[in-house]
Amino acid sequence: MSTRFDPLPSTQPTADHIRDNILENPGFGRYFTDHMAHVRWTLDNGWHGHEVRPYGPLTLDPAAAVLHYGQEIFEGVKAYRHADGSVWTFRPEKNAERFRRSARRLALPELSDDDFIGSLKALLAQDHAWVPTPSSDADECSLYLRPFMIASEKFLGVRPSHEVDYYVIASPAAAYFKGGIEPVSIWLSTNYNRAAPGGTGFAKCGGNYAASLAAQKEAEAHGCGQVAFLDATENKWVEELGGMNLFFVFKDGRIVTPKLTGTILEGVTRDSVLTLAKDEGLTPEERHISIDEWRDGAASGEITEIFACGTAAVITPVGELVGENERIRLTAGGDNDIAKRLRTKLLDLQYGRSEDSRSWLTRL
Ligand code: COI
Repeated sequence: MSTRFDPLPSTQPTADHIRDNILENPGFGRYFTDHMAHVRWTLDNGWHGHEVRPYGPLTLDPAAAVLHYGQEIFEGVKAYRHADGSVWTFRPEKNAERFRRSARRLALPELSDDDFIGSLKALLAQDHAWVPTPSSDADECSLYLRPFMIASEKFLGVRPSHEVDYYVIASPAAAYFKGGIEPVSIWLSTNYNRAAPGGTGFAKCGGNYAASLAAQKEAEAHGCGQVAFLDATENKWVEELGGMNLFFVFKDGRIVTPKLTGTILEGVTRDSVLTLAKDEGLTPEERHISIDEWRDGAASGEITEIFACGTAAVITPVGELVGENERIRLTAGGDNDIAKRLRTKLLDLQYGRSEDSRSWLTRL
């Protein structure tokens, strides 16, 4: 039996016409729904106080541990509206599991599947009208759900917090990249690494994203939408982008993604692509792929497509890799046919347009 989240409905919900206006063009991460889910944890009492309350600013003591030592983790999950009006989410148990892995690494308390999925359901029970309706099969609008956990104890000593708060907020979302499925340019970071062995690379914690921002700034200064990071030991192996995983399609049907070494985020979309690629007759491989293999494969035509994937990004083709003194483009391919096929397969599943034979969907 799942835990009850006490509802405390907003007394000033967004007017229907304002919400409808937002849903027509939500962008990404700019607007938020009327409520948020919340659960508190204390060392003495464990998880308690499950509630859904009006969305609004948090009251945090200036000495709260999260503000000083970054003891924080988060997730990204989407809610999709199907043609019959029902609302579903995709493989939330994978996010719940990753959230627990992240929690262990950041010395935060683990949240059960029941509380994680229960909090999404409880929030959607209040804010279901905020889930946009796709206008066509190519429309990837959704309600992006952001569960996160912060160390809220007022204490400046460096140790795991004895007080923690878990929240879920929700934001209507269109495509993450403004160009939709137009290929993105990627900046190759040589000044910065994202994660090192033994560090927090596999955890979804704010610190990893904060550490990627200087490189992301460089990317933008060079006209690129994302940054690719290499491994911190040899500066040779391709790891991931600032906020998404990478796939390389070879002309012989292999589809390669960097293997999980502890420094790469174990993406739910990454895992789903590995499965869907097999259905498409491709041969998935999780292995090391070097920046030289990227350069050579692009030049020789061995690599025919590259794409990024993530909950926010879905599947987005990579057009070129830009470095200090180079610009690597694929000499073969160019139609991104496989990225488009996989993307359609994934979206059809998520929006209920194809059979959910693996039971990947959960109704919210
Ligand atoms: C997601 O894909 O859900 C993420 O958390 C990545 C972020 C770039 C929005």
